[in-house]
Amino acid sequence: MEKNIPRHTGIIMDGNGRWAASRKAIRAVGHRKGTENVRTAISFARASGIKALSLFAFSTENWKRPTDEVTAIMELAVEFLAKETPELKASGVRLRFAGIREGLPARTLNSMAASEEATKNESALDVLICLNYGGRSELALAAKALAEQAAQGELDPSSIGEEAIARHLFAPDMGDLDLLIRTGAEKRLSNFMLWQAAYAEIYFTDELWPDFGEESFQAALDFYDSRQRRFGGLA
Ligand code: IPE
Ligand code: IPE
Ligand code: MG
Repeated sequence: MEKNIPRHTGIIMDGNGRWAASRKAIRAVGHRKGTENVRTAISFARASGIKALSLFAFSTENWKRPTDEVTAIMELAVEFLAKETPELKASGVRLRFAGIREGLPARTLNSMAASEEATKNESALDVLICLNYGGRSELALAAKALAEQAAQGELDPSSIGEEAIARHLFAPDMGDLDLLIRTGAEKRLSNFMLWQAAYAEIYFTDELWPDFGEESFQAALDFYDSRQRRFGGLA
């Protein structure tokens, strides 16, 4: 029988710090290894027939970390984008970013804009990197945008429903999550895609993100294939 492939898969890429600690290395070493693994995950998703992949790279809460760690993550993003964008484009990947742009370093913002521009016509796989992203702030921004339209008289408040909110998310075309993977043993959402995860199948694994290779990703897809989705209805 044909396998059910999740159209939209999200990954909370957690465990870089513990990966580094277990090797007596500083946390940035784990982030580097984790960033390298992003490339593996994207090519695996592409080969598996996933159409949309959302990757949680940095949360609106991660600013609480020491400055040197935050700086290392922002610099790794620049490096990753410079190195990988040509190949991503060549394999048909459209790369976009979700999150709050204010507060991000100019270098990171420039690389983000360049990668989005370079890959904008690709359509084999949509990759959304969630950087300075929070699910609550995404919903608050949607509410604000709708309120502004209503205040301008462009929108009838009584017409605001789920569709209207969904249309005002960072990347509305990504749609609901079918499969949500969290590596690194924690069993929580940590403010990731609260709206989009409403009916996602959720796969938690103890594996740390840098160790989550193709076989691990395949195990998550097998889990997804074994689930019966009911969306509140009956089997
Ligand atoms: C995930 O790994 C990456 C980010 C949150 C930026 P962590 O850095 O949270 O790794 P752990 O959870 O401390 O092991
Ligand atoms: C979630 O991991 C954010 C990312 C993976 C980018 P965290 O390590 O920040 O989550 P908490 O703090 O354990 O909930
Ligand atoms: Mg963590």
